[in-house]
Amino acid sequence: MTTSATQRQAAASVKSRPPRIADRLPAEGENGVFTESWFPLCKSSEIAPGEMRGIDFLDGRVVVMRDQQGKVHVLSAYCPHVGADLSVGKVVGDQIQCAFHEWRFNTDGYVAATAIGDPAPKACLFKYPSADKSGIIWAFNGEEPWWDIPDFEKPNDKLAIRVEYDVPIYPIDPWVICANTPDWQHIKIVHKIAFDHKQYRDCLVWNNYSMQGRLDGYYTDNKGGAIETKAGIFGTSIFIMQGYFAGRWVGILTPFGIPKPGWTQTYFILATEKGDGSEEDRQTISKVLAGLYHLAKVQVGEDKPILRTIKYAPGYLTASDAMLAKYLKLVREFPRSHAGGEYIR
Ligand code: FES
Ligand SMILES: [Fe+2]
Repeated sequence: MTTSATQRQAAASVKSRPPRIADRLPAEGENGVFTESWFPLCKSSEIAPGEMRGIDFLDGRVVVMRDQQGKVHVLSAYCPHVGADLSVGKVVGDQIQCAFHEWRFNTDGYVAATAIGDPAPKACLFKYPSADKSGIIWAFNGEEPWWDIPDFEKPNDKLAIRVEYDVPIYPIDPWVICANTPDWQHIKIVHKIAFDHKQYRDCLVWNNYSMQGRLDGYYTDNKGGAIETKAGIFGTSIFIMQGYFAGRWVGILTPFGIPKPGWTQTYFILATEKGDGSEEDRQTISKVLAGLYHLAKVQVGEDKPILRTIKYAPGYLTASDAMLAKYLKLVREFPRSHAGGEYIR
């Protein structure tokens, strides 16, 4: 073959090579918008009444404040006077006082008073819809939440709950981690859980913000044993799994926060039923929750080398990826906005 024929052939084979990415998904923060999901900000126990704390959220910063009655408020962090970070100020009564010129803000985010005596201008902070639930302080990205944070099937007052952070944060969007749940190939291969994926597919209940269904199976390695659970995803940022692990009811709720675009902070909410309150019961619960935390960390550890390096982009999904494809469609079509955008940056 002549050199030019070889070159022509090489060029032809390059041209016919299929692209890696068949159908890309929008990243969080792309075009200035984020999915309208509930995101965790911190543990409930980290903010006492009369305290506040600054937290990086989406592409900006918020303050989480707990008033004297114990109610939580999530407000944009930057003062509308000249932009000081309110988290370096303090809470006075039920108001936030800016450190720079001591303007005060009520819990709706409006200026209540200036320190110098000028009339309070009609300026305000952005107030995020928030929740203080299952040991986590949450914010909804939007003006009004249009779906709820999922509950455990047992009432929270009957549960012992342990909340933990997973550190460090991952260089991916929360929905990438959520996409692992309908990714059956990975559940079987990475986490070594044997289950009938067709049965899981057939019992999954979908709506425009969640998917959930029975997932029964067993660990084929020595991590756990039998599992009889209900598992699913809510929004683009919450994994929930609850049911019987080795014969005892437990729940794992894993919300994924966005401390900055392209990054995920994982939390674990681990739950089991309270018993009779005896010392023995207390010790059993503490052991069960420690075991559950260990299991969660082992599973996250199995994903970690993959999730810390992946460039997630669906290319060529196969028949067994049907539910993954369906979830990715839900993510692709998920409402996106950034109501607090001009306030938190
Ligand atoms: S910057 Fe906050 S009062 Fe001036
Ligand atoms: Fe996983």
